[in-house]
Amino acid sequence: MLICFLVFVADLVQAGSVSVLLGPSDGLHSHTLLLDEERGRLLLGARDHIYLLDPDNPDKTPRKIHWPASRERVDMCRQAGKNPTLECANFVRVLHNYNHTHLYACGTGAFHPICAYLRITGNTEVRIIKESGRLKCPFDPAQPFTSVLTDQFLYSGTSSDFLGKDASFTRSLGPTPDQHYIRTEISQDYWINEAKFISAHSISDTYNPDDDKIYFFFREASREGSDKSIVSRVARVCKNDMGGLRSLTHKWTTFLKARLVCSVPGEDGVDTHFDQLQDIFMLPSRDEKNTKVYAVFTTSSSLFPGSAVCVYNMADIRAVFNGPYAHKESPDHKWVEYDGRIPYPRPGTCPSKTYDPRIKSTKDFPDEVVSFMRMHPLMQRSVSPVGGRPVFTRLRADYTLTHIRVDRVMAEDGHYEVMFLGTDIGSVLKVVSISQENWATEEVILEELQVFQTPSPILSMEISSKQQVLLVGSALGLSRVSLSRCPVYGQACAECCLARDPYCAWDGHSCARYIPAAKRRARRQDIKNGDPATQCWDTEDRKGVEEKLIFGIEKNSTFLECVAKSQQAQILWTFQRAGSERREEIKADDRMLYTTRGLLIRSVRPSDAGSYTCLAQEHSHFTHTLLKIKLQLVTHVQLASKPGEETHLKAESKQHYKDYLRVMSAPYGSLEEYCDSLWLEKRPSRAKGKGLGSSKWKHMQEMKKNRNRRHHVKAEEVQR
Ligand SMILES: *[C@@H]1O[C@H](CO)[C@@H](O)[C@H](O)[C@H]1NC(C)=O
Ligand SMILES: *[C@@H]1O[C@H](CO)[C@@H](O)[C@H](O)[C@H]1NC(C)=O
Repeated sequence: MLICFLVFVADLVQAGSVSVLLGPSDGLHSHTLLLDEERGRLLLGARDHIYLLDPDNPDKTPRKIHWPASRERVDMCRQAGKNPTLECANFVRVLHNYNHTHLYACGTGAFHPICAYLRITGNTEVRIIKESGRLKCPFDPAQPFTSVLTDQFLYSGTSSDFLGKDASFTRSLGPTPDQHYIRTEISQDYWINEAKFISAHSISDTYNPDDDKIYFFFREASREGSDKSIVSRVARVCKNDMGGLRSLTHKWTTFLKARLVCSVPGEDGVDTHFDQLQDIFMLPSRDEKNTKVYAVFTTSSSLFPGSAVCVYNMADIRAVFNGPYAHKESPDHKWVEYDGRIPYPRPGTCPSKTYDPRIKSTKDFPDEVVSFMRMHPLMQRSVSPVGGRPVFTRLRADYTLTHIRVDRVMAEDGHYEVMFLGTDIGSVLKVVSISQENWATEEVILEELQVFQTPSPILSMEISSKQQVLLVGSALGLSRVSLSRCPVYGQACAECCLARDPYCAWDGHSCARYIPAAKRRARRQDIKNGDPATQCWDTEDRKGVEEKLIFGIEKNSTFLECVAKSQQAQILWTFQRAGSERREEIKADDRMLYTTRGLLIRSVRPSDAGSYTCLAQEHSHFTHTLLKIKLQLVTHVQLASKPGEETHLKAESKQHYKDYLRVMSAPYGSLEEYCDSLWLEKRPSRAKGKGLGSSKWKHMQEMKKNRNRRHHVKAEEVQR
């Protein structure tokens, strides 16, 4: 029976709402997505190819643009002992719109990065202008990497060598007179050490365009004394940085970094830190300057695996960069707060004629400022998340969170930010964090979708607002998943309401996509409280609860399936022994296992026979009965007995045992069918769902009588 349970988990893949855009044979184990909704195109750069897809026509065969590494480079890569299929090819890692006509793309070029301007026209024509990819693109297809292209400048966080040791943040390209190639200083103790770049964004800090900056996020090794640990960082540089005149030439003179903290207080007063930044999503807000930064972290501890989502305000990040600097006397000292004199203009400020006509460019910075920058790139204070703690955590789960995308959704009672969290096992969690009156937030998991049936880490995720789908990529392919799947919550108003999905509302007939513009009075939704009692009329007269009869074989395992439609429901089982009036809650133990799909009873005993009720307790303490199961026992004596000795009851049991054997040997299409057939469903009775009043008892008596009648018939058949 345990096998059935495992198969059901895999079956959670909802065929209707997940569709495949690219299959597994496409060399996608390292890939880059570019969704361009304006031009109605979706590009995916993978091994030796760029795929051009039409996001509006998922069934259209994608166009394939071949862009391999040179023969010579592939041979050299193999000779260097690299993996021929996983490394010695051109893995596309940079893919941006460059201007109206051209794309800019870079690939690993079999451990020799190459870049190109691409012009895609018509149906076949592709023009490629090639150039070097050094310091724009990583050598290694698996190395974490980020880049952003803005105003024809490319900013990349990557390693500059074959071994992947020298990590730096660079700027390249740009319109011809302004091309100033620039990078971070190679000074591990102060600037950047073994960095893994996660994300980069162009952000306007003030209304003065001279203040425009690139903010980027990475994790790096931090050495404080003899300890080496991983810390996550937010850093920034001015877009108009040209480097220094006498020192820091072709290096950033405005680079500053700060620690990003995401932690929860532990039981014993020691905080649990989620140190390893995995992904960033910038959620634009109505106030353009105050973008919200959503970040996914994992712990570095193998003893305490966990993931968390923390949210930061750009205003808080700016405040840290405007605060005190950190100071390190020498590489052997620790960072402490800098309390000396701060030179003018304040280090990290972008040069602007508006502020000081004498300082038009970073080359005009006084030497004092440049040498200060060189030794003081770190801010003393850390950036704390909004509310001081994560908005979502997953501890001791058998997966970690690696990707995040956020959609702002308008619901009946306000705006909600719905998070789509990708995991390292190919699933996506759909989560909403709801703030309550007392400033507390409540995390609600709306759905847990297994996008890829075989566990495979999610490598890319993008929201298409136009199509209302989430694009999800892994080594196994590229899929699209609907942002909302309202019908899965069920038909009833209560079920729709309990789901608390901001995308869905009950429209009088079914659970459907909520569209704010459509004024329809019958719509029912309650995201904040998820209380059907205030929203729905169908809570009292719910449809009758089904009662199943199933047979358990003594000493064997039996599985009672019961699944709540709402993810937040807690399942409870109660048991009433045959002939007893008492109903008790079943405590999980070695023999009674609560699983996500139902109750597993190991080694069934005669005392287990009786009536089982599956109850769902919702977050709002609304409890309802989902299912009743009557378990009858087939003992070994009954199984072994000869035809002549059969009593009426035994006759029936024998019959069922035969059924059992039949299904065991029958060729079933799927294990699910097989499992279904094992629950020899008998006359689903329409008992009223509420309580166990006297009417219920009468009903049970009725059922018994009916069954006895049937026994007689069967017994006759056996005798003939
Ligand atoms: C776009 O950039 C490419 C490469 O520099 C150039 O050849 C092309 O003329 C540009 N197109 C436009 C419309 O500026
Ligand atoms: C109990 O289950 C095992 C397999 O799980 C099977 O081999 C055995 O025959 C079953 N016992 C009875 C009495 O059906």
